[in-house]
Parts: sequence; C-alpha cells; structure tokens
Amino acid sequence: MDLHCFLINFVSLLVLYCAMSCLAIEATNTTTDQSSLLALKARITGDPHNFLANNWSAATSVCHWIGITCDVNNRVTVLNLTSMALTGTIPPHIGNLSSLVQISFSNNSFHGSLPMELVNLRSLELMNFEDNNLEGEMPSWFDSLPKLQHLYLSDNDFTGPIPPSICNISTLRTLDFMNNDLHGYIPNEIGNLVNLERFILYGNPLISGPIPSAMFNISSLKNINFAMNRMSGSLPDNMCQNLPVLKYLILHHSQFVGSIPSSLWQCKELVRISLDNNRFTGTIPRSIGKLNLLKELYLDNNNLEGEELMLYDEYNSDNSLSAGEIPEELGSLKALERLRTGINHRITGSIPRSLANCTSLWELELGGSSLTDANLLGEENFTAKKDCILSTLELAVDCSVESSERRIDITDVLSTLKKIRTNFEKSVAMT
Ligand SMILES: *[C@@H]1O[C@H](CO)[C@@H](O)[C@H](O)[C@H]1NC(C)=O
Ligand SMILES: *[C@@H]1O[C@H](CO)[C@@H](O)[C@H](O)[C@H]1NC(C)=O
Ligand SMILES: *[C@@H]1O[C@H](CO)[C@@H](O)[C@H](O)[C@H]1NC(C)=O
Ligand SMILES: *[C@@H]1O[C@H](CO)[C@@H](O)[C@H](O)[C@H]1NC(C)=O
Ligand SMILES: *[C@@H]1O[C@H](CO)[C@@H](O)[C@H](O)[C@H]1NC(C)=O
Ligand SMILES: *[C@@H]1O[C@H](CO)[C@@H](O)[C@H](O)[C@H]1NC(C)=O
Ligand SMILES: *[C@@H]1O[C@H](CO)[C@@H](O)[C@H](O)[C@H]1NC(C)=O
Ligand SMILES: *[C@@H]1O[C@H](CO)[C@@H](O)[C@H](O)[C@H]1NC(C)=O
Ligand SMILES: *[C@@H]1O[C@H](CO)[C@@H](O)[C@H](O)[C@H]1NC(C)=O
Repeated sequence: MDLHCFLINFVSLLVLYCAMSCLAIEATNTTTDQSSLLALKARITGDPHNFLANNWSAATSVCHWIGITCDVNNRVTVLNLTSMALTGTIPPHIGNLSSLVQISFSNNSFHGSLPMELVNLRSLELMNFEDNNLEGEMPSWFDSLPKLQHLYLSDNDFTGPIPPSICNISTLRTLDFMNNDLHGYIPNEIGNLVNLERFILYGNPLISGPIPSAMFNISSLKNINFAMNRMSGSLPDNMCQNLPVLKYLILHHSQFVGSIPSSLWQCKELVRISLDNNRFTGTIPRSIGKLNLLKELYLDNNNLEGEELMLYDEYNSDNSLSAGEIPEELGSLKALERLRTGINHRITGSIPRSLANCTSLWELELGGSSLTDANLLGEENFTAKKDCILSTLELAVDCSVESSERRIDITDVLSTLKKIRTNFEKSVAMT
C-alpha cells in the first residue's frame, strides 16, 4: 500500500468514525429528551383529560407527542403544556432538554419550586409558568439563560425580592410577575434592560419604593404595570421624554404622590392611563388632549385640583377655564372611550361641553367630584330626558322577553345602561 492509498484509507476511517460518534451523540441526546419528558410525566399526579396518559408513550418518537415540537435533528425545541389542567411538580430532568427554545406550562396546577437545573437550557428564549401554584423565592439564576426574552411567572406564589441579577439579561423583552407575593424594590440596575417592552408587577402588595429613574430611559417600553402594590414616590415631570412607544401606564391603587407629569403627551402611543387611587396632587395637564390614541383615562380617587393649571397656558388659546376644572382639551381625545375623574374633591367647575366631541366615549364617570353643572341642575332639556327614559324603557322590555334565548345578556344590559347614561350626560353637557 503506497502512502497515497494509506492516507485515503486513513481519512475515510476518520470520517466514518466521526460520523458514527456524531450520530451516537445525537442519539444520546434524543434519548435524553425522551427520558427527560418521561421523568416529567412521572411527576404528573393529575391529568383529568388524559392528554399525556396514552399520548406520551415510548412507542412513538417524542416529536409526535402532544405539546412537543422538534427541530430537523429531532431534538425537542418547544414544550407546551398550556391549559391542560395538569397537576404535578417540575423535575430537574427538564434541564436536560438542551435544545429547548420555548417552555410553557401556563394555566395548570404545577406546584413546588422551579428546579435550578433549568439554567442548563442555554437556548431558551421563552419561559412561561404563569397561572400555576409555584412557590418559593423568586429564583436568582435567570441570568444564566443568555437568550431569554420572555419570562412569565404571573399568578403563582413566588416570594422574596426581585433578583437584581435579572437586570443582566439584556435580551429580555417581557417580565411578568403579576399576582405573586414578591417584596422589596425594583432594582436600580433595571435600566440595563434596554430591550424591555413589558414590565408587569401588578398585584404584589409588598412591593414598595419608587420607580428607578433609569427605567424612564428604556425607550422600548410599551407596558408599565405596577398597579395594586405599595410603590410610592413621584413620577418625573419629563418621564415621557424617552418613552416613544409606551401604550399602557398602569399605576392605580398604589401610593404614588406628586403631580401628573406634564410630559405625558410625549408618550404619543398611550392607549390607557390608570393613575386612579393614588395620592396625586396638582391638576390634569391640558396637554393630555394631544394623545390621539388614548382610549382610557382613570384619575379618580386622588387629590387633584387646579392651582397649577395656569402653567399649561400654551395649550389653551382662549384661557377661559378657571382653576380646578376638567380641561376642555380632553374634548379633542377622539379615541377616548372611558374617562373617570370621580372622587377628587378639589375638582370643581362644570363638565366641559367639548366632551361631546369624544365620539367614542361610552363610560364617563365624573361622580364624586365637586362638580356643579348648572345645566344638569337647573335648565331643563326635555329631549335629553325623554331619550334617556325611552332608551331605559326599551332596555327594560328587552330584559323581560319570555324566551331565555332571545332575552338580552346581562353584560349587554350593563353596557347599554352605561351608554344611556353617557348619552344623557353628553347631551346635557352640550346644552
Ligand atoms: C448533546 O450533544 C452535545 C454534542 O452534540 C453534547 O455536547 C451534549 O452534552 C449533549 N447533551 C446531553 C444532555 O446529552
Ligand atoms: C398524540 O397527540 C398528537 C397531537 O394531538 C397526535 O398528533 C398524535 O397522533 C397522538 N399520538 C398518539 C399515539 O395518540
Ligand atoms: C402553546 O399552545 C397554546 C395553544 O394551546 C398557544 O396559544 C400558545 O401560543 C403556545 N405557546 C407556545 C410557547 O408555543
Ligand atoms: C385554563 O385551562 C382550562 C382548561 O383546563 C380552560 O378551560 C380555561 O379556559 C383556561 N384559561 C385560560 C385563561 O386560558
Ligand atoms: C438528566 O437530569 C437528571 C437530573 O438533573 C440527571 O439525574 C440525569 O443524569 C440527567 N441525564 C440523563 C441522560 O438523563
Ligand atoms: C451583572 O454581571 C456583571 C458581570 O458578569 C456582574 O459583575 C454583576 O454583578 C452582575 N449584576 C447583577 C446585579 O447581578
Ligand atoms: C438617561 O439617558 C440620558 C442620555 O441618554 C442620560 O444622560 C441620563 O443620565 C440617563 N438617566 C438615567 C437615570 O439613567
Ligand atoms: C368640537 O367639535 C366642533 C365641530 O366638530 C368644533 O367646532 C369645536 O371647536 C370642538 N370643540 C372642542 C373643544 O374640541
Ligand atoms: C337637549 O338634548 C338633545 C339630545 O338629546 C340635544 O340634541 C339638544 O341640543 C339639547 N339642547 C336643547 C336646548 O334641547
């Protein structure tokens, strides 16, 4: 055998050896995927609809199992057990599904804690365990998942502080910790999450402290929801300077103080502002009238008043308003559907006629404010009253239909009643 031939044979052998060992590694990995999922199945104590009972069987490839998606190498990339009514715990073996990109167990009854072995899921982009009964301290190892974009842990029983290490996952776009028992503050390092779009802490009654100012520099933010907790401090007046795509600002039922930022109009995409049930003072900035996309504005149960109104003269050409009123400018909110300013005892004046221009408005709750509308009390508007009474009577007839299928649904009754009231208030405001 000459050298040439020897080399060819040697190279062929090498190639063959490589191919076999590569196949072996792949086979080991697919076997591991199967044994990891069977370990999970073994921890399921309740499967009332038999989703997994017969389906997850070693007789078929895991790639044909319900809730599983594989890649071209038959490795598991998606494990999705959403809404299967499963009860059980999560075994550490899940950490062996080394090609996993998405894992979702949302809306089941898994309990126990999240196993630390999940840190081995180096390709994971989405982790969704929302709506289960998971407990224990919020894990601090999420920063070991270098590609994590979406983390949903809402509606569980996690405790402890928000781990500052979470602020090191620069790929993060969603952080949803709604309805848990977390305590402590939002870490100052939160500003490092330059891709963050949604940050939901709603319903963690022990979360306190202010919103770190660095957060208002995260220009990707679309949804800030810190309602129903104990957060305090004020909102910087220029908070909207670097938040061009913010759609939802939800801060109700907390302990925020200070005035409503005059820069809110710079968050041009805002659809919903819920600042109700806090301790905001000052006035409703007239410039809110520039938010063309705003559908819902909730300001009730604060200490709003009128003294600072004069600061916003630049937006008010006729200067006819007196301090403390609901700004006439809200009438230019064409998309506005719901407005509540009730129970701010220092709001006075009359219902602005311009609100009749909010053609999408169907909920108008101004009650509880010290509003005195001369039209409402004094001047008669027979047409408005007649329309109101006739519509109410018509609804009453719809409610009394004998056949239950043809009878109007209770949610429709409520929305119709609200429309009747809104129409009445609007037409009276117009007179
Ligand atoms: C999967 O295969 C890779 C090589 O392709 C190997 O490095 C890794 O350890 C294997 N993972 C498991 C869980 O067996
Ligand atoms: C398991 O469920 C999947 C998805 O519903 C289905 O395509 C498959 O045929 C089922 N396999 C068995 C063995 O029942
Ligand atoms: C999981 O499946 C549900 C439908 O059952 C679907 O709505 C959801 O988008 C899926 N999630 C993932 C991460 O694939
Ligand atoms: C949760 O799962 C149950 C079935 O187990 C389903 O009926 C219900 O609609 C799901 N809820 C949500 C919010 O998806
Ligand atoms: C998978 O994970 C479990 C627990 O983390 C471990 O005991 C087991 O050795 C791992 N490997 C395989 C191939 O199952
Ligand atoms: C973030 O990562 C850096 C570098 O790895 C480290 O020094 C720092 O302590 C981490 N920060 C947090 C809050 O974990
Ligand atoms: C926000 O960004 C600006 C410039 O991009 C910077 O000067 C400022 O210090 C940042 N603020 C915070 C609180 O990080
Ligand atoms: C309401 O609309 C009418 C006509 O569309 C317009 O003349 C009036 O100036 C508007 N009022 C306000 C306060 O926007
Ligand atoms: C009274 O209300 C009706 C709508 O119901 C409206 O068209 C009318 O302009 C109002 N004013 C007067 C003085 O009738």
